[in-house]
Amino acid sequence: MSGRPVIVDCDPGLDDAIALLLALASPEEIDLLGITCVAGNVPLAMTERNARIVVELSGRRDVPVHAGCPRPLLRPLNTGERVHGKTGLDGYDWPAPSLPLADAHAVDFIIATCLAADDGAITLCPVGPMTNVATAIVKEPRILPKLREIAFMGGAALVPGNVTPVAEFNIHADPHAARIVLESGARLTMFGLDVTHKAITTPERLDAIRGIGTPAAAAAAAILTFYDRADIERYGARGGPLHDPCVIAYLLRPALFSGKECHVAVETESELTMGQTVADWWGVTGKAASCRVVTGIDADGYYALIRERLACL
Ligand code: BDR
Ligand code: CA
Repeated sequence: MSGRPVIVDCDPGLDDAIALLLALASPEEIDLLGITCVAGNVPLAMTERNARIVVELSGRRDVPVHAGCPRPLLRPLNTGERVHGKTGLDGYDWPAPSLPLADAHAVDFIIATCLAADDGAITLCPVGPMTNVATAIVKEPRILPKLREIAFMGGAALVPGNVTPVAEFNIHADPHAARIVLESGARLTMFGLDVTHKAITTPERLDAIRGIGTPAAAAAAAILTFYDRADIERYGARGGPLHDPCVIAYLLRPALFSGKECHVAVETESELTMGQTVADWWGVTGKAASCRVVTGIDADGYYALIRERLACL
């Protein structure tokens, strides 16, 4: 395989599952070295199981799944069953996975994989709380020069939050980990609610996925139908924001997205604004830009890409 070497760190989670399918369906562009799991949308025992279920569905049993941290660094685990259901992957009748978990802890897998790579080679894609990635950076800072980029789903730069008035779920779940990652000096690309709320699963887009006819597309349509209900309730929109696959779509088709470089800080002190991503959009602090904040998306192109890849699985 000649694709870009990537590790996806996730907490599946319905939208995580679509992100994984998109990556697993794209071996020419993405050399998926491994999937690392963290506690987030549901407890770790479920997220690692769900990742194995999705890998099996894709037929890519060559991709190892590693379990990582069972809780955030400092704060208690606060899960998201309201959105993702009790199992984290509700909405479809999944068979139990037979793929075993890989032996190494996710943090050790990230470290060993990065240390074995050339400088600037590895892309890390956290699409859940950043506990594993932050722990890897703290445990072995020599991984930082090995990174090409950390492209993550999380935060809200210019728009309201989705778990508190100002904070997005992934960053709020482990703000201290997010802060370590955002202050790491790695090249960062942020897919926050600014962009993901422009990537809505309208009924027409869902119907188109349902019509593809492959097993992966059938599963995707079922879980996205389940996923929609919570967001339609909350936002009164015509569908849910399909967050995590934005990160993978960006690796495949960067031209679908637009944004701006600016400094982003994470609030870790105030209980009122805990986990807020404070983006210095107009450069008023004079601090050097630390992150590319993505705000624009060609949503039709995004869904066309998802359909194209689900048709291959
Ligand atoms: C993020 O939170 C989770 O519920 C989703 O999987 C996504 O990563 C959106 O705020
Ligand atoms: Ca997620």
